[in-house]
Amino acid sequence: MDKSNIKFWNERRRQLKDNLDAKRLPCAVGVVESKFAENVGGIIRTANAFLIEEIILDKKVYNKSATAGTANWENIKVEENIFDYLKQNNYAIIALEQHERSVPLWDFKFPLKSAIIPGHEVFGMSDEMVALCDHVIEIPQFGLVESLNVATATSIALYEYCRQHRGNKI
Ligand SMILES: C[S@@+](CC[C@H](N)C(=O)[O-])C[C@H]1O[C@@H](n2cnc3c(N)ncnc32)[C@H](O)[C@@H]1O
Repeated sequence: MDKSNIKFWNERRRQLKDNLDAKRLPCAVGVVESKFAENVGGIIRTANAFLIEEIILDKKVYNKSATAGTANWENIKVEENIFDYLKQNNYAIIALEQHERSVPLWDFKFPLKSAIIPGHEVFGMSDEMVALCDHVIEIPQFGLVESLNVATATSIALYEYCRQHRGNKI
């Protein structure tokens, strides 16, 4: 490809990204702990579908394969302390967890500036981590299996945030 072509495609890419950025809602997902890169990739893909502001990954979670593809269009940050970052940036911090403090998702009114924190695939979220969060939300379930896959649960929570704050605006 000659240099003028590269310049053209870089400019086109920048325009597309600016166009997406203008439509983002002030919502973040913070992944503090994760065992499987596929789940992080799934969360990034949903974040893209709903055009949220940013995805914050703990240094230990960051993995190039999880952030390939869709991630090129998203705002991904790697932080040593996700909670410090979210507090400094005035997010309401919302644990996504089945917990004694939780309220059902359908009763929860998301603050406009919300950060959703899912737990670990195997261990869930520790009480210490839940205590760092302003709210705890739970997706009611009715089947025999007690919990959802973490990327699925995050997708449902993001859908509901988006339903409340975007409505049918695009
Ligand atoms: C597979 S679950 C963890 C289950 C773990 N074995 C436990 O008992 O804590 C992984 C994560 O998905 C999210 N999750 C799954 N089902 C959920 C639900 N019904 N409501 C809210 N979060 C859920 C939570 O963030 C949880 O930490």
